[in-house]
Amino acid sequence: MSDSAPAAATAPATSAPPAAAGLPRPGAPGVFAGQVAIVTGSESGIGRETARRLGQQGAAVVLNGRNAERLAATRQEFEAAGLAVASCVADVTDYAACEVLVDTAIQAFGRLDILITNASISQRAYFAAMQPEVFRQVLDSNVYGSVYPLKAALPHLVQSQGCVTFISSISALNGMPSGSAYCAGKAAIANLAHTLRLELAETGIHFGVVHIGFTQNDPEKRVLDAAGQPVPIAHRPPRWQKSQAEVAAIILSHIRRRRQRTVISALGRLIVLVHTWLPALGDWIVLRTIRRMRHFYE
Ligand SMILES: NC(=O)c1ccc[n+]([C@@H]2O[C@H](COP(=O)([O-])OP(=O)(O)OC[C@H]3O[C@@H](n4cnc5c(N)ncnc54)[C@H](OP(=O)(O)O)[C@@H]3O)[C@@H](O)[C@H]2O)c1
Repeated sequence: MSDSAPAAATAPATSAPPAAAGLPRPGAPGVFAGQVAIVTGSESGIGRETARRLGQQGAAVVLNGRNAERLAATRQEFEAAGLAVASCVADVTDYAACEVLVDTAIQAFGRLDILITNASISQRAYFAAMQPEVFRQVLDSNVYGSVYPLKAALPHLVQSQGCVTFISSISALNGMPSGSAYCAGKAAIANLAHTLRLELAETGIHFGVVHIGFTQNDPEKRVLDAAGQPVPIAHRPPRWQKSQAEVAAIILSHIRRRRQRTVISALGRLIVLVHTWLPALGDWIVLRTIRRMRHFYE
């Protein structure tokens, strides 16, 4: 999340020729050549690295975030690397802004094949202390921040029989103290993906979920405390973290293979196993570690 105030959707900025110029601008040759992707929350972090890799593998990408300055800097970096890129400042919890975001892709590149709902706000706050408005903000960013871009993009994805990838977390697979709204939101989108896979099966759209585990963060990354103030993320041992580039590569492989669910990291897979078969053991481990490792949760 960002320290700066959310911005409304603004006119799209693009390095691609306008739609009037005809066909979408081809990206570099590669697995995703000719495809057009929107990655929400891609001005920084995992979203930026996923968009970069998509661009390097041939896709034209539309970057998004709420911070105009950071978004412009990321776009310039992509342009300098010769990637086909457009960008749109949009708060994805605002449906009208999501329509502008999708329109950016269509105006710039003429089609839409891939939507990655990555934008998210996380938290370091226990439920009892949390302001109700902060709970709503975190939940909204994860739930409506996925639902609204998808609603706006759906007609185009039906046309392209495209891919939707919801970026979830291993914390959607079980509960995590100090993460109530975040965990609830990440679990909600996993269920949403399942429901849409069934409901929209005949459209040919791929709906997948990637449960990401601990990943290196940008130093500027902030999450919300109980009063809604941006604070740095809790310390995680570096050896437990994957790099953003590693995670981006896994997300692309998930899309290429049209997988339903990808759980990243051995820890994530262990959580699935324990939560499914030995839930009481899982709770016992969390309750024990929370006493000894408060800094990890808080
Ligand atoms: N890093 C990890 O260890 C980890 C673990 C599990 C899951 N994940 C998931 O991976 C994804 C990326 O995380 P990250 O670590 O890369 O976090 P990050 O660096 O904070 O990236 C999140 C991005 O989303 C943007 N964003 C937040 N709210 C938005 C909104 N309403 N509209 C538009 N953009 C919005 C943020 O920019 P602004 O705030 O400036 O708009 C930022 O660019 C998230 O879905 C996260 O939950 C990460």
